[in-house]
Amino acid sequence: MERQLVPSAKGFASHSTPHLSCMMHPPFPTSLARRLLAWYRRSARPLPWRVDRDSYRVWISEIMLQQTQVATVEAYFARFMAAFPSVAHLAAAPEADVLRLWEGLGYYRRARQLHRAAKQIVAEHGGEFPSDGDAVRRLPGIGRYTAGAVLSIAFDRREPILEANTVRLLSRLVAFRGNPHDAAGQKHLWQVAAAILPKRSPGEFNQALMELGSQVCTPREPRCDACPLEMLCPTRAAGLQAAIPPPKTKPRIESVRHAAIVIRRGPRVLLVERQEGERWAGLWDFPRIALGGEQGAALDRRIVEALQADLGMSIGEPELLSTLRHSVTRFRITLECYAAEFLGQRKHAGPGVGKWFSPAEISMLPLNTTGRKISRLLPDGLGQLKHRPRAAIG
Ligand code: ADE
Repeated sequence: MERQLVPSAKGFASHSTPHLSCMMHPPFPTSLARRLLAWYRRSARPLPWRVDRDSYRVWISEIMLQQTQVATVEAYFARFMAAFPSVAHLAAAPEADVLRLWEGLGYYRRARQLHRAAKQIVAEHGGEFPSDGDAVRRLPGIGRYTAGAVLSIAFDRREPILEANTVRLLSRLVAFRGNPHDAAGQKHLWQVAAAILPKRSPGEFNQALMELGSQVCTPREPRCDACPLEMLCPTRAAGLQAAIPPPKTKPRIESVRHAAIVIRRGPRVLLVERQEGERWAGLWDFPRIALGGEQGAALDRRIVEALQADLGMSIGEPELLSTLRHSVTRFRITLECYAAEFLGQRKHAGPGVGKWFSPAEISMLPLNTTGRKISRLLPDGLGQLKHRPRAAIG
């Protein structure tokens, strides 16, 4: 890592390259806060979790905003608040209802931990989100960022934050040339985040940092002309916006092929509940298997044999309903959806093998995103499913 600017008690002591360091001098933090807050008060988007500083609303919004765009979160937030207007309502709800409202947001562990945290808040804090830092940090699903965000925004505690937008903004603001995602980079940027926090309005200041990072100090082609911190920014002065922070190396994309099977039994279809430790734990899904390059009769055999092995279930000839394509992290997934008739099941097929549901019942359950898409392929009365099984295989 190159030498870098480090915050000192007074402001920023420069240990960077001379042409960068000349831009950084005390009272840098003071003028930064003044400029940033004035800009935020003019420019902040009127987002639903900004109408007040209610700790419950701030907490829910911050959990939803992890790994998820503001535009996506807005509608989810409104529905969630309508269904669970307080910590007590959330704690009392069945987990499946919480997951149903989270459906489509992804990273479902967030929702399950949120639910557990709500129960803990009711049991240990009388249903009021705690304002004590240690108590907040003991809640499930609350890491350093979320604790800092809720404590500063809801309770005006002088707690720093660091997330994707502020990593980029702070890296540029101190011309940090190292990797902002490794341990040393993170340590340094957390120190910067703490050093620039003003005594007054730290919550508003933290939100302003995130807003500036997302709206102005963007990854590509930042709008430096519109930035209230332009004259303080050594990266702008040196024209290094494209190099700071260094672009992430893109992961190698891998193509995979899966099959989901709609097994029909009269008016119902089979769903399996994903178990603890599995992907999508707590959600329901159609049985899935990984495919290789099988086609034709070999493909039919593969599906039939997999369901025998996994669920002890005999099915008729699978027929293709639809093919969905989607991406998850570095995987590009081709998901072939088949329909097949239930023919029978071995006794003692094992625990957790699934349950039969009507389309109306499925609409109430939490499903993963592709599971929900497949369920929408089902006509309300399953009798109209297009495929007609011919004969049993295997
Ligand atoms: N991203 C994470 N928290 C945020 C907030 N409070 N406002 C806007 N974007 C955010």
